[in-house]
Amino acid sequence: MENYKRISDPNIITEKYMDSILIESRYIDSVKADTETEFFGEKFSMPVMTPAFSHLGKHAGREKNGLVEYSEAARDLNILNFCGMMENDQFKEIADTGAKTVRIVKPYADNGKVKDQMLFAKSVGAFAIGMDIDHIFGHEGYDVVVGEEMSFQTAEMLHSYVELTDLPFVVKGVLSVADAVKSADIGAKAIIVSHHHGRVPYAVPPMMVLPEIKDALEGRDVKIIVDCGIASGADVFKAIALGADAAAVGRSMLPALESEGSEGVKKFIGGVQSELRYIMSSTGFEKVSDIDSSVLYEL
Ligand SMILES: Cc1cc2nc3c(=O)[nH]c(=O)nc-3n(C[C@H](O)[C@H](O)[C@H](O)COP(=O)(O)O)c2cc1C
Repeated sequence: MENYKRISDPNIITEKYMDSILIESRYIDSVKADTETEFFGEKFSMPVMTPAFSHLGKHAGREKNGLVEYSEAARDLNILNFCGMMENDQFKEIADTGAKTVRIVKPYADNGKVKDQMLFAKSVGAFAIGMDIDHIFGHEGYDVVVGEEMSFQTAEMLHSYVELTDLPFVVKGVLSVADAVKSADIGAKAIIVSHHHGRVPYAVPPMMVLPEIKDALEGRDVKIIVDCGIASGADVFKAIALGADAAAVGRSMLPALESEGSEGVKKFIGGVQSELRYIMSSTGFEKVSDIDSSVLYEL
């Protein structure tokens, strides 16, 4: 059983896959790269984003909640910020930091609550709204998350969230061409290719499905973000080379957040940016939009 558990853990499989992707270098005629990027019409300092986290407490006796602390870091770094399951008053605290934030709402069985949280997010200045469609099911049927029941989400329901506000809509938890195409069809402006830190055993590594998702969405005006296991500039570089527009760090930023709060997150993500810039420069890609898979090898 011990062994079965180990090999079915998608986090380990994902890490192994990412580590099997190698990068060549191209120095002649290369110049220092720039990590600036554009997303939904806004300029950001890098194609690196914070994760849609929830349920963080106050760390190391500090006054502010971890979600607020990392949102402040996102604001100061000028990167796109994400947050997940929470009540409206907590989202207001995050919106009040001034970070450009995507509010990911849970697929609650109470559809009124879904719409209320989305409309509230719009009213307090969310940058975009979305839903994590990969948190619908549990082993007993529909999942119950911190006492709240989840429900199936049809394409029609997702379309109704797109129509609810004029904000861009993001579908989080896409791990197939089928869901990517449906997301584009309902009018989503971005998808997050993710297995939500391994909710399904043997979930395919997000980077492994990226190229076919990228091909399937060609010409559809849908941005592609990837998460799961992103911990370095090299990981972000590989994600972009394989077809993503940006990547979100996740649990990799938690030690920095817990020990040093906002400053720790700034240092950690600043390090990811430095490594990304270094690899871009060393592979001859001056701009993020130039990066392609021609420099990658697989072990
Ligand atoms: C503490 C914690 C809370 C999370 N809460 C949410 C959430 O509310 N909504 C959501 O869509 N994802 C949530 N996630 C999933 C992350 O957004 C992300 O998809 C996942 O952690 C994979 O990235 P990683 O391997 O880099 O951690 C949470 C993850 C963690 C660790």
